[in-house]
Amino acid sequence: MILVTGGAGFIGSNFVIDWLGQVGEALVNLDKLTYAGNLANLAGLAGDARHRFVRGDIADRALVEKLFAEHRPRAVVHFAAESHVDRSIHGPGAFVKTNVLGTFELLEAARGWWEGLARDEKAAFRFVHVSTDEVYGALGESDPAFTEASPYAPNSPYSASKAGSDHLVRAYHHTYGFPALTTNCSNNYGPFQFPEKLIPLMIANALDARPLPVYGDGRQVRDWLYVGDHCAAVRRVLEAGAPGETYNIGGDAERRNIDVVHAICDALERLKPRAGGYRTFITYVADRPGHDRRYAMDATKIRTRLGWAPRETFQTGLAQTIRWYLDNAAWVEQVRSGEYGRWIETNYAARGSEAQA
Ligand code: NAD
Ligand code: DAU
Repeated sequence: MILVTGGAGFIGSNFVIDWLGQVGEALVNLDKLTYAGNLANLAGLAGDARHRFVRGDIADRALVEKLFAEHRPRAVVHFAAESHVDRSIHGPGAFVKTNVLGTFELLEAARGWWEGLARDEKAAFRFVHVSTDEVYGALGESDPAFTEASPYAPNSPYSASKAGSDHLVRAYHHTYGFPALTTNCSNNYGPFQFPEKLIPLMIANALDARPLPVYGDGRQVRDWLYVGDHCAAVRRVLEAGAPGETYNIGGDAERRNIDVVHAICDALERLKPRAGGYRTFITYVADRPGHDRRYAMDATKIRTRLGWAPRETFQTGLAQTIRWYLDNAAWVEQVRSGEYGRWIETNYAARGSEAQA
């Protein structure tokens, strides 16, 4: 039995589905079901007794302690977080609460549980903390990619709160010998990603003939990784990683945002042609404050020490993702009801449109 946090979100739900399909071990899925959590992502697991869903907050130590005592997990995989940079600019408080304080409460509950275990169980226990490349700050155009030795230099409230959680995890290993491992991954994309993030937002807007809002000059660079490859990396770290170590995960697929948007438009044009094409919807809008120019991950350590490598290229991963969104219009409609409209208004209304591509 393992405990997964945030398993109703984008990466967490992909991880839960892959885990049950490929490992088969039962898991408890603790998720608060914020705007980003969605039980529809897990509908395919209905009736599967190996999946126990609990709605709750990682910051609720009493609840987490109860879950440890009841289910006796051998490991924790910690995905739960506030994850969207733009939301952290509009409202940083929730990020500090969940990412810093929530991770602290979860660590305390896990440490208490681990300290009481018998010797063999204690030696085998693992806590995998899922983090991001954004903690390293921004790279210049020709800088080498981030390694595990790159200094922390977070630039947004989101990345600062993730950096805070990474430091706590590091300190728990250093001070208490707590068997924690941290993964720092680049930008993910794939099924079930909430359409506030670049790739699903652009797909959903294009299909609705709405503007495709590109921030600033669109030349910021991200290193894209298909979500299934990230899930495989996390499984591998849980299985074979060394406590106290951190592992960078990346797709070796750096792309400028504008090139990603062009690729989406061109793929849609092939799958669902429309008069005038999709590129006409591209609209340059005001930049994100403090926008990091470039991220790139050097994943040599996880590749050489743990034998992990991505299976998908950006082309194959993007094609699968676009196909998934085309086939799951009802899922998109469902997540775009509720608070989504308010968020779009908050984030985009004041940005205006600066030029057409
Ligand atoms: P997401 O926003 O899609 O999902 C987050 C999930 O956590 C949701 O189900 C939400 O309900 C849950 N949650 C939030 N606060 C909670 C709390 N206090 N208690 C319990 N559950 C809570 O996020 P994601 O994109 O799937 O990211 C998952 C993790 O991976 C995050 O830690 C994020 O920092 C990290 N990460 C994401 C990416 C990416 O590209 N999306 C890349 C690298 C790392
Ligand atoms: O790098 C890993 C991180 O990737 C994760 O830790 C975060 O949880 C995840 O949200 C993601 O952060 P980004 O800020 O890189 O992702 P986002 O999809 O929000 O934006 C990707 C790029 O696209 C970024 O340079 C901003 C730009 N962008 C984004 C949106 C939503 C636009 O140009 N227009 C948009 O409307």
